[in-house]
Amino acid sequence: MPENSIDSLLRESRLFPPSNDFAATSVASPELYERAAADRLGFWAETARELLHWHKPFTETLDWSNAPFARWFGDGELNVAYNCLDRHVEAGNGDRVAIHWEGEPGDSRTLTYAELTTEVKRAANALTALGIGQGDRVAIYLPLIPEAVIAMLAVARLGAVHSVVFGGFSAESLSSRIHDASAKLVITADGGWRRGKVFPLKPAVDAALGMLAASGAESTVSTVLVVKRGENDVEWTEGRDLWWHDELAKADPEHEAKAFNAENPLFILYTSGTTGKPKGILHTSGGYLTQAAFTHQNVFDVHPETDVYWCTADVGWVTGHSYVTYGPLANGATQVLYEGTPDTPHPGRWWEIIQKYKVSILYTAPTAIRSFMKVGREVPDAFDLSSLRVLGSVGEPINPEAWIWYRDVIGAGSTPIVDTWWQTETGAIMISALPGITTLKPGSAQVPIPGVKVDVLGEDGAPVTPPSGGALVISEPWPAMLRGIWGDPDRYVATYWAKYSTPQKSIYFAGDGARIDEDGDIWLLGRVDDVIKVSGHRLSTTEIESALVSHPIVAEAAVVGADDKTTGQAVVAFVILRAGKAEGQSTEETTTALAKQVTEKIGAIARPRQIFIVAELPKTRSGKIMRRLLRDVAEGREIGDTTTLADSSVMSLISEKFHAASGTE
Ligand code: PRX
Repeated sequence: MPENSIDSLLRESRLFPPSNDFAATSVASPELYERAAADRLGFWAETARELLHWHKPFTETLDWSNAPFARWFGDGELNVAYNCLDRHVEAGNGDRVAIHWEGEPGDSRTLTYAELTTEVKRAANALTALGIGQGDRVAIYLPLIPEAVIAMLAVARLGAVHSVVFGGFSAESLSSRIHDASAKLVITADGGWRRGKVFPLKPAVDAALGMLAASGAESTVSTVLVVKRGENDVEWTEGRDLWWHDELAKADPEHEAKAFNAENPLFILYTSGTTGKPKGILHTSGGYLTQAAFTHQNVFDVHPETDVYWCTADVGWVTGHSYVTYGPLANGATQVLYEGTPDTPHPGRWWEIIQKYKVSILYTAPTAIRSFMKVGREVPDAFDLSSLRVLGSVGEPINPEAWIWYRDVIGAGSTPIVDTWWQTETGAIMISALPGITTLKPGSAQVPIPGVKVDVLGEDGAPVTPPSGGALVISEPWPAMLRGIWGDPDRYVATYWAKYSTPQKSIYFAGDGARIDEDGDIWLLGRVDDVIKVSGHRLSTTEIESALVSHPIVAEAAVVGADDKTTGQAVVAFVILRAGKAEGQSTEETTTALAKQVTEKIGAIARPRQIFIVAELPKTRSGKIMRRLLRDVAEGREIGDTTTLADSSVMSLISEKFHAASGTE
């Protein structure tokens, strides 16, 4: 538990009650909390019936008899894609824009609900023709183009399971994910646009499949479907590779959505944990879609007829699953999708997009906000942002300073800001203010949404008495909860349910430290395990260490997450080299080679900000690396208590090296 951060936490006295105007028209009402408190399961059942179309209505809300393996709405049947598409067209909203897509080079496309439905139907027929059916796994490795959403929905429509892999992950990461899920088909693109250039994707798929073949693993992938986007040259494996546009052109535009059980798997999404091996988080259909739709509607106050919503996340992350694809489309909302980086070709690109499409709801990450703060308010001030009326934040704690800047500069000093806490595992938002209802408190994620029960537990496993800090747990099952780790039920139980559950009650441990204040508001204090957050992206220090030690010149490595003004945390590595292996190389050449190693093994997102070559690592007498001390060094603090170190001189040597390299005397 990060005791020091609990103790030094700021008290926030700036409070922002909802304006009467906002409250008068907000979707959410205080009655939601009352209904959920009176009958939690009844509340979720009503919500599921109200927000979704059930081909076969459910009669059972929750089966928790085999806890922690849950079944929600378990005898009901639905089609997730039908809920996101066809029913809006059938209701007469086919002409409503579903996606305003903006390519990085300035090209754009608009897809109405009718057009998106037709594309998904064609894609579903094309996938069927390629042998994809219920339960088959399809890997998706695409840039942020409409085809990413179309591919996800086409897979969902067939009752198959998608595993989206973020385009920034390396061939090796992709290959292990394809292998773990035994994917039958991969959907990729030639390339996508980023920072003014085409970044190739197809070569990574070729390399990933090549690695699998070389490892002797049985090949499960029979087809690679390639979307044309980057127009870059790609190699072609006849008999395996097909162009997306050719297959869709051949496909029938009609397709009837069949009903699947509410617990039919919808997707697997890999996320870093405390070991070197990412976990395939499994989500299913009915409960997931219920909570994604409910939270999207109420947390962002979405009025589908008038709002233009923009979530800046990539579909490679869970935020892109729940708040780009499933939540907004289930609610029939109009949204913006943007392919590229915020500063290409100019630093005002995002604000220009908001002005162009009159975006009214913006959902983004603290990292982005902090990097805009750094550049200065002149950039957003040059654009008309008056359409914005709700702002959201996700992925890491938003510091009060960034919160206030977000509200003042982007939100004209008046928009509500919702700081939403959730995880890949929770599937949907769990803790957040509701705009129009909650009095906002900068820096705090505040309160669980209606129907969700969380607690902050002390060392003894009992809820702490506010104001106090402890471990954040979820004390009742929730509809969008993960249903397991793909192929590893034991790891599911051990990772999330072992620490605080009692024989009477299964309790989910989120892995975050939290503080609950006098008002009952929750403040997130960061991870208490070896997971770190860089620009809101989840990385495992152990996984980065494994990548480093797999380089022949490395004997040992320790990686820590150090505070970073812009990215929240940054990767800092301490590396011991094998004697004689890096001879003749300058330190710079060595660290460049090691950074490259991490990029190749995991992806550029895991590339260390700094790598220090050291002679020794601080260890306890039992040989455990003391990361706390390394973090002190990496964050430029006085080194903490070293009395348990086997050799305390190690630390002063490391610290000297660090200060010399970073020029911080
Ligand atoms: O540490 C918490 C942090 O992100 C973790 C979950 O990461 P991931 O599965 O990648 O999902 C990110 C997007 C939902 C959490 O355990 N986190 C997420 N949102 C917040 C947050 N920390 C503080 N405040 C938040 N609003």
